[in-house]
Parts: sequence; C-alpha cells; structure tokens
Amino acid sequence: MSAQDRINAYWAGRAPSYDEYQQRPDRFAADQQAWSAIWEQALPPAPLDVLDVGTGTGQAATVLAGLGHRVTGIDLADGMLERAREHAAAIANGPVIRHGDAVHPDFPAASFDAVTSRYLMWTLREPEVAVANWVRLLRRGGTVAVVDSTWFPHGLDNAPENMSAHYDTQVQAVLPLATATSIDQTVAVLEKAGLREVTVTPLTSIYELDRRFGVAPNHDLQMQFLITGQR
Ligand SMILES: C[S@@+](CC[C@H](N)C(=O)[O-])C[C@H]1O[C@@H](n2cnc3c(N)ncnc32)[C@H](O)[C@@H]1O
Repeated sequence: MSAQDRINAYWAGRAPSYDEYQQRPDRFAADQQAWSAIWEQALPPAPLDVLDVGTGTGQAATVLAGLGHRVTGIDLADGMLERAREHAAAIANGPVIRHGDAVHPDFPAASFDAVTSRYLMWTLREPEVAVANWVRLLRRGGTVAVVDSTWFPHGLDNAPENMSAHYDTQVQAVLPLATATSIDQTVAVLEKAGLREVTVTPLTSIYELDRRFGVAPNHDLQMQFLITGQR
C-alpha cells in the first residue's frame, strides 16, 4: 500500500466523525459566516471558476459556492467524497465533486481563476509539485488561496484517534509540512512556485470561535492562517 493509499484509507474511515464535527449545530451558523468572510476577502468577486483541492466533505467548496463561485472540488478519499456530494446536492449552485489527486489535478491549463484548499497542505505529498501544477491551472492573474496551521509541531505520535496508525513513519516521510513548526514553511512552498504578492493573514475570527466553542478532540487551540498568492 502506498503512502497516499494509507492517507486515503484514513480519511475514508474518518469521514463520518469529521463531517459531524464540521456540521456541529452549536457553531454552524457562526462558522458559515466567518468562513464566508474569509473566502470573500481571499478572492476577487464572484463568479469565478474555483478548484478546491483536497475538498474533503466540501466545507470550503460549499461556502465558496454560496458566495456565487462556480466550484469544482476534488479529493481521493471515497467516504469524504460521498459526504461532499450530499452537501453539494443540498444547496443551490452546489459544487461539482470529483475524484482527483491534488498533486496532479487533471484539468486543462488555464481553466480556473482560483485554486483553494483548507487543511490540505500539512497532509499533502510533494507540495511543491502540487502548487506548481495549481499555478498551471490558473488563468493569468489567478489566485492560489490556502488555509492551514502548524497542527503537529511536536510530531504525529500523539495525534488524535487512530491517526498515528495510518500516519506512520512511511507516511510522515512523504509529508514535508506535516510537522511544520512555522507557517513560513507553507509560505515558502507558494513562493517557490513563482506566485507573486504572497500574503499571510492570521484567521483571528476562527481562533475566537475555537476559543469560544472548543477545538476538535485532541487538538490544541492554534492560530490558522490564510495564505494567498497571484499568478
Ligand atoms: C483535513 S481534511 C480537509 C478537508 C476539507 N478541505 C476541509 O477543509 O474540511 C484533508 C483532506 O485532504 C485529502 N487529501 C489528502 N491528500 C490528497 C491528495 N493528494 N489529493 C486529494 N485529496 C487529498 C484527504 O482525503 C482529506 O479529505
């Protein structure tokens, strides 16, 4: 089994509990509002053609569609794709959800105005190859916008649920950002791909929601960051 197969198996199994957490009724409305504001700030006005890579259960993809963008979401984990398709079908102008690899997205060059990802960079193999491929998918002036944090600066051995079993040494060896200690490591990947005007914004609204409602089980309260760059 390849490292990517192990990652896919983890997320396929994790899909129900991940989705439940994303849909938590106590903070759902506040989350929708906060993430709408974040993506609105990150991208030019709708409607844009947006590719959301590592879309998971489609949280970012559905918020982006709600802003009026034409969104396609891709992921490799079947359980996550199933949930994403359910959420997409439940809204008007919902995203199109497809099976696809974020490292080598199979779309024509210059077919999107923006490539987005949330919580993908840390679990992405070959991030430099991936971002270079995202840049190729962008039209001139297009935007790459990613959200992530330094989730496991002390390593993955005490990671939540059965994660460390899947994210074993073989998997960790192919994920350069999994144990990043600074968001600057993610910024460097975007800069190396030749993106211009790379900016980093701490997501204080999400930090405040996490502080108020509590973070995911076995996670620490951590600042998340939006990183954007232009082609
Ligand atoms: C932490 S989840 C984030 C899901 C979603 N973006 C969100 O914000 O809730 C990470 C996702 O990345 C996906 N993933 C990991 N590597 C991938 C790859 N190479 N191509 C596509 N998806 C990938 C996993 O299957 C999982 O759904």
